[in-house]
Amino acid sequence: MSRKILVTSALPYANGSIHLGHLVEYIQTDIWVRYQKMQGNECHYVCADDTHGTPIMLRAEKEGITPEQLIDRVWHEHKADFDGFHVEFDHYGSTNSNETREFAERIYLRLRDEARLIEKRSIEQFYDPVKQMFLPDRFIKGECPKCHAKDQYGDNCEACGATYAPTELINPYSAVSGAQPERRNSDHYFFRLSDPRCQEFLRGWTTSGSLQPEAANKMQEWLGGEGENKLSDWDISRDAPYFGFKIPGTEDKYFYVWLDAPVGYMGSFRQLCSLPSPAGGRGAGGEGVPIDFDAFWDKEKAAQEKTELYHFIGKDILYFHALFWPAMLQNAGFRTPTKLFAHGFLTVNGEKMSKSRGTFITAKSYIDHIKNTEYLRYYYAAKLNGTMEDTDLNLDDFVTKVNSDLVGKYINIVSRCASILNKYFSGVVLAENPQALVASRGYSMIAYGSDEEIKELFESREFGKATREIMRLVDLINQRIDQDKPWNIAKDPSKHAELHLLISDCINAFRIITYYMAPILPETARRVAELLTLPYPLKWVDLDRPITQINPYQHLMIRLDPKLIEAMVAANQESLKPMPESHSQQRHAEHQQHAIAPVAETISIDDFSKVDLRVAKIVNAEHVEGAEKLLKLTLDIGEAQPRTVFAGIKSAYDPEKLKGRMTVMVANLAPRKMKFGLSEGMVLAASGEAPGLFILSPDEGAQPGMRIK
Ligand code: 2FM
Ligand code: ZN
Repeated sequence: MSRKILVTSALPYANGSIHLGHLVEYIQTDIWVRYQKMQGNECHYVCADDTHGTPIMLRAEKEGITPEQLIDRVWHEHKADFDGFHVEFDHYGSTNSNETREFAERIYLRLRDEARLIEKRSIEQFYDPVKQMFLPDRFIKGECPKCHAKDQYGDNCEACGATYAPTELINPYSAVSGAQPERRNSDHYFFRLSDPRCQEFLRGWTTSGSLQPEAANKMQEWLGGEGENKLSDWDISRDAPYFGFKIPGTEDKYFYVWLDAPVGYMGSFRQLCSLPSPAGGRGAGGEGVPIDFDAFWDKEKAAQEKTELYHFIGKDILYFHALFWPAMLQNAGFRTPTKLFAHGFLTVNGEKMSKSRGTFITAKSYIDHIKNTEYLRYYYAAKLNGTMEDTDLNLDDFVTKVNSDLVGKYINIVSRCASILNKYFSGVVLAENPQALVASRGYSMIAYGSDEEIKELFESREFGKATREIMRLVDLINQRIDQDKPWNIAKDPSKHAELHLLISDCINAFRIITYYMAPILPETARRVAELLTLPYPLKWVDLDRPITQINPYQHLMIRLDPKLIEAMVAANQESLKPMPESHSQQRHAEHQQHAIAPVAETISIDDFSKVDLRVAKIVNAEHVEGAEKLLKLTLDIGEAQPRTVFAGIKSAYDPEKLKGRMTVMVANLAPRKMKFGLSEGMVLAASGEAPGLFILSPDEGAQPGMRIK
């Protein structure tokens, strides 16, 4: 029976361009959705621009336009980018819509009046007397109260890591006008997440299989153990002036952007439900049959109809989607998500995307330079799996992989066979059933053999494994063609019957592989469908429906020229000047998980050389009884005796997987007596505000004991 599925990707902010980092998520989601549709499932994919908040309001003001004009312009830019990358939403809306407003109000009123989970409290905040507005924490700067670093943001010090209230900053100033802010009281509305009902519900929901294991662990950390109450109430209101929805019953209070952002999923879907159904219907819906909104969102109806709801998100916005959002839905009588699929960040050439290196590449710039966006879809697919691990786009590897896998191998099958079929047999494909073809050469059989496995891999978002399996088939088929040498057989007219069977089989194998590739390469699949006269759109049930005729062959894909990549990187390279203040503020203001600590105070080379960093081999790693965060590591740095180091990395690493790995340690740190024993150094690990802890690895070839300087 066909499944009923609603899928979303995170809503991009309406004040920035779509870049290659965003595209990891949209491509991942689009592949999954296309796969579900090919399976014959009723699958709806919606998204929207995330349009509210202070940064968008200020940006519009700076450009001398209204926020509505700004978000309208950006909506068209975003839509063009998504179309360019074949990200095919069933509907792309905006959170600034009547539908989103209605649901935001309904949820709020139910939380307030039925669940009694909204509370009004007066809080003291900084107010910019020049701009005449309350300042979000990230728009206030000043001196850190702990380490006295200058120009720190209002919520935490990026030099020493201290967190504090903005009112604790020394000599605070407004990052908008530079004025000295005043303290003023203002009423704010809070969603009482600390209420035992919310805590209890979230404890159940976050452990009910709706989250990937790493995400569920992170949630346990945020929620604390049974009996602990670690969640604070959530401030869901902002004072005027603000671009957003006014809170019912107030004159000058607005919903905080993160309150109505996920409601945008509902709003966009509501709009889809009102649109006329396209020819051919939607999924199992059938032509003219409207989609039933309640079947996907009403708590009871969704359970009865067994509809499924999946949110694809980045790991940096897990907090909002795994805590606030389900708690809002649950307490307002709506269904909760079936699963959250969180992915990691994108690195380019192993590093964070960077404007100075030219690797902060916008979707538009990619389209302008490279044109073929399926190259990137394929590369991302080849790298993606179902975990929250980061994905690296290595630009050299990108060129090699695309040229070798797609052009050199996959397209090579059809370019070799189609020309023979057209030349000698007028494009007629022998209509024997697949079994007969199997008996002859077995090309199709090779391709059919992986049907079930590939389906499972797509379903579980193991796209990397799926592409490897597809390429394994492609390799096998190419090898057989090389052995059979049809171009030689063609020279002997007495063997043309045999040749015809062989080429027909080969074309059918290519056809099957194209079905497997179709979620990843939708445009190529469409063109192959034209070439091979396949029923379109491609459906998995047609996999064993052999073809009888092909059209004249036309080039399907050209090689990727590395020069295009060079030109793209050069075009995106900015001089080494720091990011303009306004840009970094906008990014930070509503999206604090991306905050990157600025570089600490300058030190001399002598200061640095005091730290003795060594390459260390982890010869053993084990859990420590009674320790919540620590692993006990035994490290070889080439000394007579290995060192013991207790490292706070238990949340991120399975000790078994660490054994034998190389890493980096501080070798001259004074030994520290701990509850569990003596720690003789420290391993280095990276962490930020987003979940995750990452120990370092030297490049291959480094030996234990080598000094790092
Ligand atoms: O982090 C972001 O870019 C947000 N605009 C994502 C919102 S997702 C959802 F909640 F709307
Ligand atoms: Zn500090």
